[in-house]
Amino acid sequence: MATIVQYSRLGGPDVLEVVEVPVPSVTDGHVLVEVQAIGVNPIDSKLRSGFRASAPLDGPRGVGADASGVILEVGSGVDGWAAGDEVIIQRAPGAYASHLVVAPHNLVRKPSVWTWSQAAAVGIPVSTAYQALRSLGVTEGTRLLIHGGTGGVGQAAVQFAVAWGVRVFATASPANHERLIELGAVPLSYGDGLVERVREASPEGIDVVLDGAGTEEALQASFELVEDRSRIGTIVVGGRAAELGIRAWMGGSPVPLTDEEVRLRAEGVPAAIELAAQGKFDVEVSERFPLARAADAQRLSEEGHTRGKIVLIP
Ligand SMILES: NC(=O)c1ccc[n+]([C@@H]2O[C@H](COP(=O)([O-])OP(=O)(O)OC[C@H]3O[C@@H](n4cnc5c(N)ncnc54)[C@H](OP(=O)(O)O)[C@@H]3O)[C@@H](O)[C@H]2O)c1
Repeated sequence: MATIVQYSRLGGPDVLEVVEVPVPSVTDGHVLVEVQAIGVNPIDSKLRSGFRASAPLDGPRGVGADASGVILEVGSGVDGWAAGDEVIIQRAPGAYASHLVVAPHNLVRKPSVWTWSQAAAVGIPVSTAYQALRSLGVTEGTRLLIHGGTGGVGQAAVQFAVAWGVRVFATASPANHERLIELGAVPLSYGDGLVERVREASPEGIDVVLDGAGTEEALQASFELVEDRSRIGTIVVGGRAAELGIRAWMGGSPVPLTDEEVRLRAEGVPAAIELAAQGKFDVEVSERFPLARAADAQRLSEEGHTRGKIVLIP
């Protein structure tokens, strides 16, 4: 049997149901994967609660998008993949599951340098961080401020930027400053006096801001520090981007990603794998829960202070 997590009405983590179902059959053009680990992302809770709009529920709906696992069976018409291959799975609806039927374009070969948990944790945060930084034109020498530097997206963004020769300033609560230093960023506390602390840390100024926090404080500080609003991008409060004159990618934005942005997202995980092979990209997994405790994992994620990633194990 397979285990899946689903919900039939919007609400708190308690609406999640853990259900036993027959193992799905592989279909043409797809592979069947035995899942080893699943990445928990804030969007999973935002969709479940209705905070982010989605199509009306017309039956049970699966949860999640990111996972890792081993291919059990390959459907007809699939080239380049075989039973036993170890894979990273991205953009898979209903990824909170012990078995998944996935199209090849949702697979990346898992590098041996990452554990199953690390491989499951990269999809959404790594692709988002990479695309946002590239779309903001961050390059060597840029002075970059990241709001929310030690979450899933933040740690990925810090590491890409550091690898590209960017000078990175990032906010986190004091307990996480050491992690930012390890990753190569200058740590800053959010809260009162943020702008002054940034100015003191970077007297030459800030060129670009990536907002992974979405708070009023992060937005106002960004406006004080960077005059050109096209160099400020948010992944959290996309719904306000047009009114504020800043860039946004999803996060409630009514504007879908462009083809170029979709292409950049697809480049993120392979780029991280290349850096990981050189010892320049770490994936921090701070908490693991059994799949049956998906609701507890989401409760923790919703506290908004995840360091690195939360992962589920089937
Ligand atoms: N638009 C997109 O495509 C997209 C993709 C991925 C994620 N997102 C969104 O981006 C946000 C971050 O995602 P994530 O996966 O990195 O989340 P996460 O792993 O839950 O991390 C959240 C981070 O926010 C920090 N934080 C909490 N309060 C803060 C504050 N007042 N000021 C600054 N930082 C604060 C926390 O740091 P401390 O623990 O140190 O406080 C934590 O590291 C979420 O809202 C998520 O939904 C959007």
